[in-house]
Amino acid sequence: MTQPQKKHIVVIGAGVIGLSSALLLLEQGCYTVTIIAEHFPGPFETIHPQEHIDYSSPWAGAHNRFIPPLPSSSSSPPDQVQSQAEREHVLALRTFSRMKSLSSGDKDPEAAQFSSVKFMKGVEFLEDPPEAYKALSGPLAAELGYENFRVLEQHEFPADGGVKWGCEYQTWCLNPMVYCCFLLRRFVNRGGRILKRRVRSVNEVFQLDLPGGDPDWNTHFGSTWLSPKNCANQQQPEEAKEVRRTTHAVVNASGNGLGDDAAMFITRGQTCVVAESGTTEEPKTVTRQNADGTWTFTVPRGAEGGTVVGGTREPDNYDPLPCPKLRDQLLERIIQTQPGLLAKGKSKLTPVRDIVGRRPTRRGGPRIEGEILNIDVRKDKKQQGFVMHAYGMGGRGYELSWGVAEEVVNGVSEYFLERSGSAPGGVSKL
Ligand SMILES: Cc1cc2nc3c(=O)[nH]c(=O)nc-3n(C[C@H](O)[C@H](O)[C@H](O)COP(=O)(O)OP(=O)(O)OC[C@H]3O[C@@H](n4cnc5c(N)ncnc54)[C@H](O)[C@@H]3O)c2cc1C
Ligand SMILES: *[C@@H]1O[C@H](CO)[C@@H](O)[C@H](O)[C@H]1NC(C)=O
Repeated sequence: MTQPQKKHIVVIGAGVIGLSSALLLLEQGCYTVTIIAEHFPGPFETIHPQEHIDYSSPWAGAHNRFIPPLPSSSSSPPDQVQSQAEREHVLALRTFSRMKSLSSGDKDPEAAQFSSVKFMKGVEFLEDPPEAYKALSGPLAAELGYENFRVLEQHEFPADGGVKWGCEYQTWCLNPMVYCCFLLRRFVNRGGRILKRRVRSVNEVFQLDLPGGDPDWNTHFGSTWLSPKNCANQQQPEEAKEVRRTTHAVVNASGNGLGDDAAMFITRGQTCVVAESGTTEEPKTVTRQNADGTWTFTVPRGAEGGTVVGGTREPDNYDPLPCPKLRDQLLERIIQTQPGLLAKGKSKLTPVRDIVGRRPTRRGGPRIEGEILNIDVRKDKKQQGFVMHAYGMGGRGYELSWGVAEEVVNGVSEYFLERSGSAPGGVSKL
C-alpha cells in the first residue's frame, strides 16, 4: 500500500495554546503543521507593553493552581458550572503530568534544561474559604490528583491574622517567554513551519495557497518562514478558483484576536515583576485570596526572570497603562503574606517592570470543539472546511495547555476518521 500523503493542518496562533497544539499535532507523525500568527514569542524584555497587549501569553505568571472542582456553596450550583469545573480540572491534571515529563531530566533532558518548567511547593491562603476548599482533606485531595497535599496549621499562616484556611501541594511554575520560545524552537526543529501575518478569518486561512502537502518540503532549506503563494492563485480565471486542498484542517487558537464570539471578553490583569527570586527561602508559589475579593500572589519565573507579584482580575477593563498606586499596594501586601521574599536586611522589593495583560476569557468556559465551516469560494461554489476551536482560556491558558492540545489532536483525528474510516493519530485521554 502506498503511504497516504500527510494532512496539512494550519494552526492560527502562537500563544501557549497554539504552540502546544501545533507541537503535539506534529509529534503524531501524520501531519504537516504550519503556525500562522501575528505575534510570535520572543525575549520578554523585547515584548512591547502596548503593541503586544492583546497577545496574552507573555504577561502570565505563570504558575499552576488547582481549582477544586467541588460545589462552591451548599446551595447546589447549576450543573453546567460544576461540569465545566470538572472538565477544566481534568485538563489541568493532564497538563501537570506532561509538565512533569518536561521537567524530568531522565525523560527529556533538553526540556529539563531549557523549558524553564520547575516543580515546587504551591501554597494557598484563603481569608474567606468557600466550601470547596474547606472540604479538601488529604484523601479527597489525593482522589482529585493533588500530590504532597497538606492542610496548613494556623501557626503557618501569615502573621497578620487574616487567613482562615490554607494548604500546600506540589505544583509547577515557568517563565512564559522562555517556555514559549522553547516550544517554538522544538516545533521548528522537528519540521514545523511558521508564517507571520495577521488574518481576518478562519475562512481566509482555508483560501491561502500554502505549500501544505508538499512531500519534498523538508529538502527546502530556509523555508521555515513561509510566504503564501497567493499571487499565483489570483492569476487564475474566476471559474477555476476554488479552495485548493492544501489546508486540510485549521486550529483556531487565536486567543481573542479573531472573530465574532459574543461570549468572549477580556479580564485585565496588572502585576509587577520584581528582581527578587526568593533566594532566602525555598522556591514556592504563594496565592492568597483576600476577603474583599482581591488576590495577592507570587510566581517565581525562573531563568533569571525574577518573581511576578500580583495581581488584579478586572473584567472588561481595557486600560493599557499600569496604575502606580496599585503596584505599591501589591508590593506592600505581598510582604505581609510572604516576608521570605525579601533579601536579608532589605525592607523593600526591587520592581523591574509593570505588567498589564488581557486574559482571553469566555462566558461558559473555554471553547474546545470542532466545527464544519462553509467556505464561500464563489457564489455558486460552496466548500466545507474543518476547524478545531481552542480559545477562551481566561486566566488558565498555561495550566490547561497540554490537556487542550490533546483534545485538539483527538478532535482533528476524529474528523479525519469520520471522513475516511482511518484515523491518523490520536492521543489517549486520562
Ligand atoms: C496578568 C496575567 C497573569 C496570568 N497568569 C497565568 C498563570 O499564572 N497561569 C496560567 O495558566 N495562565 C495565566 N494567565 C493567562 C494566560 O496568559 C492565557 O490564558 C494564555 O496566554 C492564553 O493563550 P492563547 O494561546 O489562548 O492566546 P494568546 O497568547 O493571546 O495567543 C493568541 C495568538 O493568536 C494570534 N492571533 C490572534 N488573532 C490573530 C489574527 N487575526 N491573525 C493572526 N494571528 C492572530 C496572536 O498573534 C497570538 O499568536 C495570565 C494572564 C495574565 C494577563
Ligand atoms: C475563532 O476564535 C475567535 C476568538 O479569537 C472567535 O471569536 C471566533 O468565533 C472563532 N471562530 C471563527 C470561525 O472565527
